[in-house]
Order: sequence, then structure tokens, then C-alpha cells
Amino acid sequence: MSHELDPIVYLNGEWGPLSEARIPVLDRGFIFGDGVYEVVPLYATPDGRAPFRLTQHLARLTRSLGKIRIHNPFDDAGWRALINQAIDANKGEGDALVYLHVTRGVAKRRGHAFPADITPTVFVMVNPLTFPSAESRAQGARAVTAEDKRWLHCDIKSISLLGNVLMAQHAAENDALETIQLRDGLLTEGSSSNVWIVKSGKLFGAPRGPRILEGIRYALVEELALEAGIAFEEREITEAELRDADEIMISSATKEVMPITVLDGAPVGDGQPGAVYAALYDAYQRAKARELRQFSARAE
Ligand code: PDD
Repeated sequence: MSHELDPIVYLNGEWGPLSEARIPVLDRGFIFGDGVYEVVPLYATPDGRAPFRLTQHLARLTRSLGKIRIHNPFDDAGWRALINQAIDANKGEGDALVYLHVTRGVAKRRGHAFPADITPTVFVMVNPLTFPSAESRAQGARAVTAEDKRWLHCDIKSISLLGNVLMAQHAAENDALETIQLRDGLLTEGSSSNVWIVKSGKLFGAPRGPRILEGIRYALVEELALEAGIAFEEREITEAELRDADEIMISSATKEVMPITVLDGAPVGDGQPGAVYAALYDAYQRAKARELRQFSARAE
């Protein structure tokens, strides 16, 4: 089987095909969803696949682990070495992502509180990734809304994703790319993305805090807006403002920035991807090119 279908993965110090990787059923990740993860984009360059914004992803992993009191099994240099090994073990043509997953480890028996003397389980996998096509960007995507029923630690990149899974399924069943969630009439985020609105040329994002996961693209979009001369404000966004927006877009590791042109069946603004989206997408590509050039310069 090719690496695409059966990647070489890392599990607790061992490398081997995904199809042969096994965890004990008393792993706290399996029993309780007791763990955290990261998804880091890897872009194809002439010098191999290069991670984008890895420093920020590793910082968020450290924060997530700290918030659920799991000892970080590696320092940043250790994670970088592991990711480079995973990239080398899964050489391939196109773009990809690296998935990092840490659970509290394997317990001796089922019980909710943390077991003493437990060693975290570490899993690393590289998967091929296709970013949205130029055609789908030109058209924009459909989104639906739903009430956000998740817990109030959405800032932790937890592997307990049931709320997000149900929201993603809601989108799939409604022929939409994403479900945009609202809590008490205020915009939170997508099932696996942050959400941005534009009104009269100004960009707005829901406040960082426990109600949303702060995407690595959150600070990036802020930087890109500054570079493109677009005013940005981080503040509560009401359902009425969402529905009345000139533009809506989502951001994530796997979508970069993506325009939403239909919300709950109604056109967003004029129903076309807007000028602010276009400016942010271009700035995103420039930021990527800058970081990937640095990667290639180091490879020489
Ligand atoms: N999800 N909010 C949620 C709930 C997410 O799951 C994600 C990313 C984001 C955006 O974060 P970032 O810009 O760091 O990708 C926001 C990843 C892609 C996933 O779970 O696959």
C-alpha cells in the first residue's frame, strides 16, 4: 500500500504503518476523550514539505496540554525532530498535514480522575491534503447555522470533539461546507474553523476566550488585515450582524481563508466572494511564500 493510503506513523516511540498501529483499550483517549491534538499544514516546496506557522502550533499544543495538566512529552525541538522524521518517512508530491495527538495515557482500570504515574500516549501522522480549488474559491461555499451546545473550554484543542462532529454532520446533511455556531445569539465559530464577517469594509472576529478555539489563523488574519490596510475589530457579533454581513469567511489550517457566499440558503451580501476576502487570501499566499522561502533557505 502507498504511504498516502497507509502512512508511516509514530506511536509511542515506534514507527510503522498506520494499519498496524494499536493502542490498548484503556487508553484515556479512547475511554474518556482525555487528550489534545494539533493539525499543522505542510506545503509542498522544491525542498520537500514544509510546515507553516509551526512555532505557533507548538505553542498552542503546549497551552492545551497545560490546561488539562498533561506533561508535555517533548520540548519544541523534540516535536520539530519528530515532525521532520514523519515528513521524511512519508515523502510525497502534494500538500499535506501533520496530525499530533497526545492523550493522558493508558490506565490500569477505568476511573474518571487522573491515574497516578501515567505516561502520555503520543501519536503523529502525515496525511495528504487538498486545499479548496480555485473554482470553489471563486464560487464561495455554503454554510448553515446552529446553536452552539459545546462546553465552555472550547479554547482547549481537545480530542473530545462530539459537539464539533455533530455540527460537521449537520453541515454535511445540509449540503454545506461548515456549520456556523451561535451561543445565546452571539457568533462563536464553525465546527472546525474560525468565522469572520465584513461590514462596510471592516473585518470583525468573535472574541478570543473560552467560547472559541483560537485558530493559528486568528492572529495570522489580524496580521494580514493590517498588511492589507483593512480595519479589524475583535468583539461580540450578533446573529443579526452575521445575517446582515457584506461578507462572511472561515479560516482553518485545511481551508486557509474561504469565502461563505450562502448562509442558511440566503446569499451573503451580493452572493459573491468579496473584496476583503480577496485581499486577505492574497496576503495569506504572500505570508506563506515568505515563510516557505525561509524554509528553503535553511534547507540549502
Ligand atoms: N480545526 N475552531 C475549531 C473548533 C477548529 O477545530 C479549528 C481547526 C479552528 C481553526 O484553527 P486553525 O486556524 O489553527 O486551523 C477553529 C482543525 C483544522 C481540525 O480539527 O482538523
